[in-house]
Amino acid sequence: MILLQTPAEASTWCQARRDEGLTLALVPTMGALHEGHLRLVERAAAENDCCVASIFVNPLQFNERSDFDAYPRDTERDARMLGERGCDMAFTGSIGDFFPGHDDPATIERLDPGPYAEGLEGAHRPGHFAGVRTIVERLFLTCRPDRAYFGQKDFQQTLVVRDLARTLGFVQIVVCPTVRETNGLAMSSRNARLDAAARAEAAIIFRALDAAREAWRNGERRRGILATVMRDVLAGGTLAVEYAAVRDPENWQADDPADRLERAQALIAARAGSVRLIDNLRLDE
Ligand code: PAF
Repeated sequence: MILLQTPAEASTWCQARRDEGLTLALVPTMGALHEGHLRLVERAAAENDCCVASIFVNPLQFNERSDFDAYPRDTERDARMLGERGCDMAFTGSIGDFFPGHDDPATIERLDPGPYAEGLEGAHRPGHFAGVRTIVERLFLTCRPDRAYFGQKDFQQTLVVRDLARTLGFVQIVVCPTVRETNGLAMSSRNARLDAAARAEAAIIFRALDAAREAWRNGERRRGILATVMRDVLAGGTLAVEYAAVRDPENWQADDPADRLERAQALIAARAGSVRLIDNLRLDE
């Protein structure tokens, strides 16, 4: 696998592949790779002629400077793991490489994140999805991939990038299942900051989602009651819950809690100490 240091070089590399008539997949990452990312890479490599990954800790999408600073970084390790799982090229770069003339992120104009940024992550992390959409558009324009692969763990992000992809019109979004630890905890780069006790505590997030799924299977369809089922489970643990909500994944609105849903996505955000964790589960599958 080849590791390139700038998006300009990556763009040239991708263009050459496309000129050969090859299909191209992109897996956007912020590095600190775990099995969840590597499954995206494996699938992207299997379904396309070439697989490219970006490694860039995007300052535009962090609300807290401390979270950005604490984000784990080890590009050499990441590049090695990507190569082992079938990635052909990875690229990185500085903020000024991605947005020429803008070494200071504060000067970069953000895209409107679109309707799917409303509520939940959008409400708790103001500006986050504008930052995500802005960098993901830049990554798509750099590589012009046929397909781009994202993990379902960041469910609302997948809606925002699908909306972006519809606007751009050349890239198909492929969403892959969340990869979990044996205790149910969704894999995340942030898990590296949890000690063994916090890791065990954090498994309560999946137990709460699973309880909502069980309630759904038993016939419960009311949005508010399904959310209460999750909150009741979470109340038995030590995490600081930011939200535990249920939404229709195809009609992204925070309607009345009394609504009866036909499709349901349960979503949770909670903090274990200073580490913010998110997870979600489709209830009607
Ligand atoms: O999911 C992530 O790691 C990031 O939000 C992404 C898509 C790489 C954009 O920086």
